[in-house]
Amino acid sequence: MSLGVRLEGVSVGFGRGGRGAPVVAGVDAEFAEGSFTALLGPSGCGKSTLLNAVAGFVRPTAGGVTVGGAPVTGPGPDRGVVFQQYALFPWLSARGNVEFALKRLGLPRSERRRRALDALAEVGLAEGAEKRPGELSGGMQQRVALARALAAEPEVLLMDEPFGALDPLTRGRMQELLTGLWRRAGTTVLFVTHDLDEALALAQRVLVLGGSPGRVLADHPVPAGGPDPGLRARVAAHLGA
Ligand SMILES: Nc1ncnc2c1ncn2[C@@H]1O[C@H](COP(=O)(O)OP(=O)(O)OP(=O)(O)O)[C@@H](O)[C@H]1O
Ligand SMILES: [Mg+2]
Repeated sequence: MSLGVRLEGVSVGFGRGGRGAPVVAGVDAEFAEGSFTALLGPSGCGKSTLLNAVAGFVRPTAGGVTVGGAPVTGPGPDRGVVFQQYALFPWLSARGNVEFALKRLGLPRSERRRRALDALAEVGLAEGAEKRPGELSGGMQQRVALARALAAEPEVLLMDEPFGALDPLTRGRMQELLTGLWRRAGTTVLFVTHDLDEALALAQRVLVLGGSPGRVLADHPVPAGGPDPGLRARVAAHLGA
C-alpha cells in the first residue's frame, strides 16, 4: 500500500511563533503513490524542514501538506521516518528499538515482536536482533533505523540523508537494500540528500531545492534505465544556481 503526498504553497518560518523569516516559501510539489523522489539541495536550503513538514513534526506557517488526500496535522503511522543520525535507544536491543516504535500502534506484545523480527530480517539483520546499538556497526545501526521505520508498514517512507554517515561500500549496499525494499513494497519514498550521484542512482525523479528562502528550482525525471549522460550536468547546473 502506498499513498500520494502533496505540498501546496508550503512556507515555513521559525522563531517569533513562525513569523520569522521563512526558511522555505511557496513550495508546491506532488509525489505520486509508489514513486521514489530525491529532494536534492545544498546545506541549509530547507530539505529537512520540508521533510519534517510531511512527517508532521513541523507545521507550515502557510500552505499545507496532504497524504492520501488527508491533511497532515501531526506525525502518524502512515509515515515512517529515517533520520540521518540513527536516533536509536542505546539501552535497548535492535529488536527492542523496533518494538518500541510499534507501541503507539496498540498492537499486542507478541505481534510487536513478530513484526520487529520480520522487519529486521527484511533489512538483513535477523542475526543482530538481540544486540544493542553499541555492538553494531554504523551500517547495521542504520538498518535498525530502517527496520524501525518499516515495521509499522507505512505508506510513505521519509528519509533524511540516511546514508550520509556511512562509508562508501556500506552506503552502496544500503542503497541496493533500499531499492529492493521499495520495489517489493511499492511505498512512496521521499529521500533527502545533498549527494547528486546518490539522488540519480536511487530516484525516479530528482527535485532540486535551493535559494533562500528555499524553493523548488528544478524537477528532473530520471529515465528507468538510469540517467543519460547529459542529465547529471543539467541537475548539477541547477544545483549550482
Ligand atoms: N527548529 C528550527 N529553529 C530555527 N531555525 C531552524 C530550525 N530548523 C531549521 N532551521 C533553519 O532553517 C534553515 C533550513 O534548515 P534545514 O535543516 O531544513 O536545511 P537542510 O537543507 O536540511 O540542510 P542540511 O543539508 O545541512 O541538513 C536553516 O537556516 C536552519 O538554520
Ligand atoms: Mg537537513
